[in-house]
Amino acid sequence: MRTNSATSAKNAQRSLRLEQNNIMENKQFETQAIRAQLERTDYNEHSAPLFLTSSFVFDTAEEMRAAFNEESDDFIYSRYVNPNTSEFINKVCLLEGADAGFATATGMAAIFTTFMSILKSGDHVVSCSSVFGATHAVFTKYFPKWNISYSYFNTNNANEIEKLIKPETKFIYLETPTNPAIELIDLELVAAVAKKHNILLIVDNCFATPYLQNPIKYGADLVIHSATKYMDGQGRVLGGIVVGKKELVHDIYLFGRLTGPSMSPFNAWVLSKSLETLALRMDRHCENALYVAQKLEGHAQLENVSYPFLPSHPHHAIAKKQMKAGGGIITLTLKGGYEAAKQFLDKLQMIKISPNLGDARSIVTHPASSTHCKLSEEERLKVGITPGLIRVSIGLENKEDILNDLLSALK
Ligand SMILES: Cc1ncc(COP(=O)(O)O)c(C=O)c1O
Repeated sequence: MRTNSATSAKNAQRSLRLEQNNIMENKQFETQAIRAQLERTDYNEHSAPLFLTSSFVFDTAEEMRAAFNEESDDFIYSRYVNPNTSEFINKVCLLEGADAGFATATGMAAIFTTFMSILKSGDHVVSCSSVFGATHAVFTKYFPKWNISYSYFNTNNANEIEKLIKPETKFIYLETPTNPAIELIDLELVAAVAKKHNILLIVDNCFATPYLQNPIKYGADLVIHSATKYMDGQGRVLGGIVVGKKELVHDIYLFGRLTGPSMSPFNAWVLSKSLETLALRMDRHCENALYVAQKLEGHAQLENVSYPFLPSHPHHAIAKKQMKAGGGIITLTLKGGYEAAKQFLDKLQMIKISPNLGDARSIVTHPASSTHCKLSEEERLKVGITPGLIRVSIGLENKEDILNDLLSALK
């Protein structure tokens, strides 16, 4: 775990720290995302170097003992934390307004490590029902094996959510916007429910990114990201991160350092560089997505076009309240169900069919037959995944080219 607090002079000499970290807290998002970086080494490099090393050395046995016992902040072993993962964690902490974080190999590793460090047999979780397919599989397939139960909500009604809370409920878990139905959950409302019942609120902020939405500002205790998506932004590396309150993250870090879901230094190095352009990229993703959604709304072949910043979206007011812009994902529901959806996907010329999202390249996914195929038809319909639903991750290409490819496949 790395924290934002100033480190001792001794530690600053021994291990690399964030350059000007203390002044970064007062800077704007774009500046933090670029300027919060590791201190220079003796080589005076401008851009932070890659530390491909499994472990670190100590001058004395006493220094190694102190590091293992968390009496110093020295780097020990890259399964715990490494200068590159430290840089990435510190940046995300600044951007999300968090105290501390732990970086993992994938988004699912961040979710699973968080769950496992907090939960024990007999505990209960309340979650929004529209969650990423693999997260749903953890709830439904694995939780019962460990005697952990869950209840789903699909509402922005505080009373309905409260009814699900039991004495053994440990946290409320949610995604907003949800994957893939793009439903919005009112962060302020759910945070108030969690606070009232003295339980934690954990938010998967993957679709919004810290640029568009900061759940901690609304009362979330922990925020999780699949860094594989917009944080990387170019479909190159996998990664995950959980950030939030120091004491909670410390437990997650201790569990992670023992069980080994950690992010690789190389991926952290790539992701730290990617964060430098997150704001620019998100502005363009949002501009392109809104444009395409507006142009496709009302198309004769489409039953529905969903995008949080379209006034027709049922949760438009919530989106406007908690998001800076609508994000890069739109959904299209084709008239004619699965057959029409398949034909549409196969007719696309430029945009490729792939399970990823948040890439510079636009991507289409048919959730019912891929990312959410493990759900029963009934479960899918409950969370808005109809046979004709297509998720479009709008990329950074010229918006007319994206629109024209989609329009020609709708003919
Ligand atoms: C909302 C959300 N959370 C978590 C994940 C899992 O992330 P990863 O693929 O990096 O494990 C995904 C992946 O698509 C996602 O969309």
